Order: sequence, then C-alpha cells, then structure tokens
Amino acid sequence: MNKKYIVANWKMNPTSAEEARSLAQEIQRVARAEIILCPPFPFLHLVRDAAPGVSLGAQDCFWEQEGAYTGEVSPAQLKSMGCSYVLLGHSERRIHLGETREMVNKKVQAALGAGLIPIVLIGEEDRSQTGKGLADSMERVLAGVSKEDRARLFLVYEPVWAISTSEGGEPARPEEAKEAIGRMREAACGARILYGGSVDASNAASFLRDGEADGVAVGSASLRAQEFLQLVKQAEEV
Ligand code: 13P
Repeated sequence: MNKKYIVANWKMNPTSAEEARSLAQEIQRVARAEIILCPPFPFLHLVRDAAPGVSLGAQDCFWEQEGAYTGEVSPAQLKSMGCSYVLLGHSERRIHLGETREMVNKKVQAALGAGLIPIVLIGEEDRSQTGKGLADSMERVLAGVSKEDRARLFLVYEPVWAISTSEGGEPARPEEAKEAIGRMREAACGARILYGGSVDASNAASFLRDGEADGVAVGSASLRAQEFLQLVKQAEEV
C-alpha cells in the first residue's frame, strides 16, 4: 500500500503559543512522518519540540537564502529549524498579497536548492472551469525544474472554490478531483499529487480512494484535534 500524506495547513491560526503547543501535543499521539504540520512561522519551533514524530513544514519562504530582505524567511533558515517541507503558491497568498506564478517558481527553485520539499498548490478559481488551466499553471510554477526534482515535489490540486473559508466553499466531488489529478499526473513526472479543499474526517477517505489522491491538504479541520485524529485514522484504513 502506498503511503498517504496528510498536510495540516494551520494558516494564521491559532492566536497563542499555548494553543499551538496543545494542538501539536494532541497530534503527536498519532505521530507519523506522513503527517506534515505547517504552523505559522512563530510556532515552528514549539511545534517541532511538541510533536517530534511528525514532519514539519512552513507555509511560505522567500526566493533567496540570505540577505537584505526585511521580513522574509529563507529556505535555508527553515531547513536549519527542522523543516522538511514548505507550502508554496497557496491561493490565499495570490488573493491577499498579489503573489504571482513567477514568484512561486523562484520560491520552488530556492526551496529545492536548500533541500526542502516544496508542496505546490494549484487550482482554478471558478467551479465551471474545473480542471482547466492546470497544465499551464504547472508549467509556469515548475519552469526550469528538472525531471528529477519534479519527481521529489508534492503538488496539491486545491480549487479555490472548494476551500472552506471561500464564499460558498464546498468540497469537490471525488470524481472531479480524480479527473483534475489525472490531468496533473500527465505533466508531473512522478510527483505526488494531493487534494485540498474542505477535507474533513467524513470525506478524506473518498479523496484518497475514489479521487486517487496520494494525500490530502487540510485547513480548518486540522485545527480541531479530535476531528484531525479521526481523519488520520480514516486515511490509514484506505
Ligand atoms: P480548508 O480545509 O479549510 O478548506 O482549507 C484548505 C486549504 O487551504 C489547505 O491548504
């Protein structure tokens, strides 16, 4: 059976170090390397210490390893903090901060250069366009990345309309995810492909089984410890 990866994207949550520590401690109860916790930067250190059995990921990085870039965090710094992964290209960064695919491409290359595994998120904004434009987005964010490096990457099919905090956000149907993931596999050179968007304990298994995803990226449900533990259990049974 292939490993199934579960990425917990905490986004800009929780608000205190105490809450972050206790959430990480709860998750440590099912600790496995296939669980990738991505807390906000200020909590990376304490999550690493509270949940040593899971993998650590950041939610972004800059495209240079060091220098005069006030406020930015480099891939080399994340690596030295114990991160193995970094999320790149999340739609919320494009929507709120104007991040472009060209910026994401530079970040992917820098992350690979520092020995991090990029988890690159791609997905259309509008449900009527489901699956369209994915190959083009992939080519732009992965331009210049070798076949060998592409095979190490994680890609997430995460349609914007399916994110729980988007207006009217509801999960894709597993067959929609399957079709989009199939299109992405053609150009992915062996990268693992995950699904993200309103994943919870009730539907995670269907994306892994019927959607043929190699894992799931979880936002809101990853902040509810009991539900997240349940989700991990469901994924294990697929
Ligand atoms: P939700 O699981 O809250 O829909 O968030 C998905 C997401 O953005 C993960 O990257």
